[in-house]
Amino acid sequence: MYTVPKLTDYSAAALDKAVAELLGALEAEIKALTADSDLRSFRDRWLARKNGVLAQVNELWLKPAPQDAKKLVGARVNQLKEVVQPQVERLSLYDLVDSRKPGLDRLREEDWKQRRQSVLELRWAAERLDITLPGVRRPLGAQHPVIRTMNEIVAVFRNLGYSVSEGPEIESDYYNFESLNFPPHHPARDMQDTLFIGGQESKALRERLLLRTHTSPVQIRTMEKMKPPLRIVIPGKVHRNDAPDATHSPIFHQVEGLAVDTNITFCDLKGTLEHAMKALFGSDVKTRFYPSFFPFTEPSADVQISCIFCGGKGQRDGGPCRNCKASGWIELLGCGMVDPAIFGFVREKQPAYDPEKISGFAFGMGLDRIAMMKYGVSDIGQFYSGDMRFLEQFT
Ligand code: DAH
Repeated sequence: MYTVPKLTDYSAAALDKAVAELLGALEAEIKALTADSDLRSFRDRWLARKNGVLAQVNELWLKPAPQDAKKLVGARVNQLKEVVQPQVERLSLYDLVDSRKPGLDRLREEDWKQRRQSVLELRWAAERLDITLPGVRRPLGAQHPVIRTMNEIVAVFRNLGYSVSEGPEIESDYYNFESLNFPPHHPARDMQDTLFIGGQESKALRERLLLRTHTSPVQIRTMEKMKPPLRIVIPGKVHRNDAPDATHSPIFHQVEGLAVDTNITFCDLKGTLEHAMKALFGSDVKTRFYPSFFPFTEPSADVQISCIFCGGKGQRDGGPCRNCKASGWIELLGCGMVDPAIFGFVREKQPAYDPEKISGFAFGMGLDRIAMMKYGVSDIGQFYSGDMRFLEQFT
């Protein structure tokens, strides 16, 4: 096989001879190519940047040439490149276009124009559009079931004239507890196992930060900013130090509601929630108010709806209904009349909240349990797993 010789003589005649030898070798190699030849290594042998024949010509002929011969040698080397490079490249193109390398021998005989034509045809065959192939599908996005439930509930209250308020997830002890009538160290705080942010011992208790355990602090924050009358819903994420199981997650969601005006009564609360439950679960659903306790409402109640799975009968498919534990009722939310003590805290910043002149009701519900009921999800952890197989079911 041809190797590039070193030059000792840089005369025009010696250069012509060396060039002719090289072109002769190229021609011989092209003639020896067959349909099975590895055209890629043929190309590399001649054109590879490192150690291809042309690269060696540079190294062995041009670089060491004495100063007075440089111009002549440079011109010859360039001419050589102009001849060798396109020839080798055209041939090796067949390999790129069609791995079968059809009839190389025959193709070599034809003129270049024809060759180019068949290259184009091969390429066209390779790129032809097959309209019978299935298209590329873009995956559809979907609303997360908890967010969807949140939007539905918010929409029900928007239709009643409520606006939407939001507040921070990292909250101070004052807004999460104290201003909601949970005094420092009061046992009522134990109802909500709280995640505190560490390293704050030097701060006053009311300023220490925690992850909010409910959306209720946004009641206070909104009242401090806006005078009565007020009708707001507050959707959001909350956190508790609860061990995860099928019905508990350290992160979950709530929607809070607050209405403050002159002459707001428990009747308004009952009517509003009864309407909301019917809008959410269907007009057959019944509501019942059960006495309860929250530090920020007085009186307080838990609201239950008739079980949407057994229709309130407690029995289903010939056995006890598992969804309501055969009671016929499902507990959905807490509510009550705003405790005048709450207005006392708000008045420090917004004197218009005078408990002698105004009254209000509030309620708060967990969204995740409602979403689980609506969509038949048995493990709350699925909402937070990020598992596409779960989420894709909601597209
Ligand atoms: N914040 C309470 C909780 O997380 C829920 C609640 C109950 C909110 C009664 C209210 C309410 O606004 O009036 O357990």
